[in-house]
Order: sequence, then C-alpha cells, then structure tokens
Amino acid sequence: MASIQVKRLAPALGAEVGGIDLSRPLPAEIFAEIRKAWLDHLVLRFRGQTLSDPQLMAFSQLFGELDPPGPNPYGKPFLPEHPEMNVISNIKVEGAPIGGLGDGEAIWHADMTYVDSPPMAAILHALEVPPSGGDTYWANMYSAYQKLPANLKKRIEGRKAVHDATYNSAGAMRKGYQEVTDPRKAPGAQHALIRTHPETGRPCLFLGRRRNSYIVGMELDESEALLDQLWAHATQAEFTFRQQWRVGDVLIWDNRCTLHRRDSFDPSARRLMHRTQIKADRPHA
Ligand code: SIN
Repeated sequence: MASIQVKRLAPALGAEVGGIDLSRPLPAEIFAEIRKAWLDHLVLRFRGQTLSDPQLMAFSQLFGELDPPGPNPYGKPFLPEHPEMNVISNIKVEGAPIGGLGDGEAIWHADMTYVDSPPMAAILHALEVPPSGGDTYWANMYSAYQKLPANLKKRIEGRKAVHDATYNSAGAMRKGYQEVTDPRKAPGAQHALIRTHPETGRPCLFLGRRRNSYIVGMELDESEALLDQLWAHATQAEFTFRQQWRVGDVLIWDNRCTLHRRDSFDPSARRLMHRTQIKADRPHA
C-alpha cells in the first residue's frame, strides 16, 4: 500500500479515503495518514468495505480503547458476544429489536456527553441500508464556534451546560431513568460550552444535545433562549455534511468537535449498522 487518497466531501467537513481495505492489517505509516486526515476532516468515509465484527473492532482499536455503548432502552447489549459493540437498526426478530434508534429521526447530538469523559470517536459500518431516507448529517463545531457572533461568544465564555442522560437521540428513555420536567434537575455531566480539542488545540462549541440542556447558573428562561440561539447557529447547513449510505460504507467521526443527526426512513425498509466507539484518550477538557 503506497499511500491513501483523501477527497473532500463537503466544504464544511468530511473526506473520503480511497485505496484502503480495512479488513487487512494497516501498516503504521498508513494508519498515521488516516489519523491525520481524520483530525483534519473530522469525518472520514471508506466505501466498499466488508468487515466482520472482529475486523471492525480491530480497525477501531487502532484509534484507541473501545468504549462500550451507553445504556439502551432494553437494558441489555444487542450483541451479547461483543458487548463492546452496538447495533443501530430498525429490524425486529420475533418482535424484538436487534438494535437501537428505530426508523425515526435521531436528533442532533454528540455521543454520550452525559458522562464526564465522552467517547472521542465513533465508527459506523453499514450492513443494510434503505432505498431512500436514513441519511446522516454531521456538523463542524470548530466552524460553528469560529462563526459564532461575538456577543454570543462572550455570553458563553467560562459557562458550563448540563448534558442530560435521560433520553437517547431517538427520544427513547434509557433504562433506569425517570422523566425530566425541569432541565435544572436533569441527571448528567456538566461540560464547558466552549471546549479546547485535546489534540488539535482548537476551540469548538460543545453542545451535546438540546433536550433538557441547561446553562449552569442562569435563570431557566435565559438558559433556554440562549441554548435555542446556539443550536440554531450550530446546525446551519453551511456547517454540515450529508451522508447518503451505501452498503459497505464505514464512517468514523471525531465526537469532540462534531454533532450528528439522522433522517427518518420507511419503517418497512431495513437498515442495519454495526457500531463501535473509542474512549476519550485523556481527561475531558
Ligand atoms: C448514531 O447516532 O450513532 C446513529 C446514526 C445513524 O443511524 O446514522
């Protein structure tokens, strides 16, 4: 393998990496190029991959230690033989879901920011895709911070927000949680709204998810209004990349400086993705 080919996918973020078979061991110098491209482009897509679960885990582990999925609504792993992996799917077998998030929209979020040290990366491998719908979008939070109006930057400097753990991005309550009616009482970690990326040193917005978010120390009304402004800004189309899935796609994203969301799709179609995520490599800052 001589070198990888990296092609930008959208002005905001995202690149496609060609010339790689991820099922085979990657030479260290090739992986170093992939890792650099990932830090530069935030989301990388590899097309035409056929990976077994152990192969997906082996590729994922080049980035760091695997981080098991957070609690799902059913309280047990979808892949008992690989509990460190997750399944995203609407497929049911004998009435029981084989994966999470169903066929509805999954709202904008970063993964598991309700814990003190959220995963630094996540990887999705598309095994079955619907004929249409189910597209996934990522947004670049470096750019969102850079282009944030000065008055908003000033209002959030030094501020933290609560990242609610109660609901997943499809709106389902995680097992073991209670309904939250007051965001000030939401269970979950607090993180600075402006984060310094631990590897690139660049500042970015760190919003987590909108539902039950709360800016610590503000009146609830003020926090709600400011969060609405921040979210409307951060999720503008100019900061995003849209992924239309093909079977065999593998996408890895930097969870420290991106948000993502997914479109709904026809409930009678099948969508199946296997997923890994990577632990934070150092304490969250
Ligand atoms: C996820 O949020 O990890 C899943 C996104 C998707 O289903 O495309």
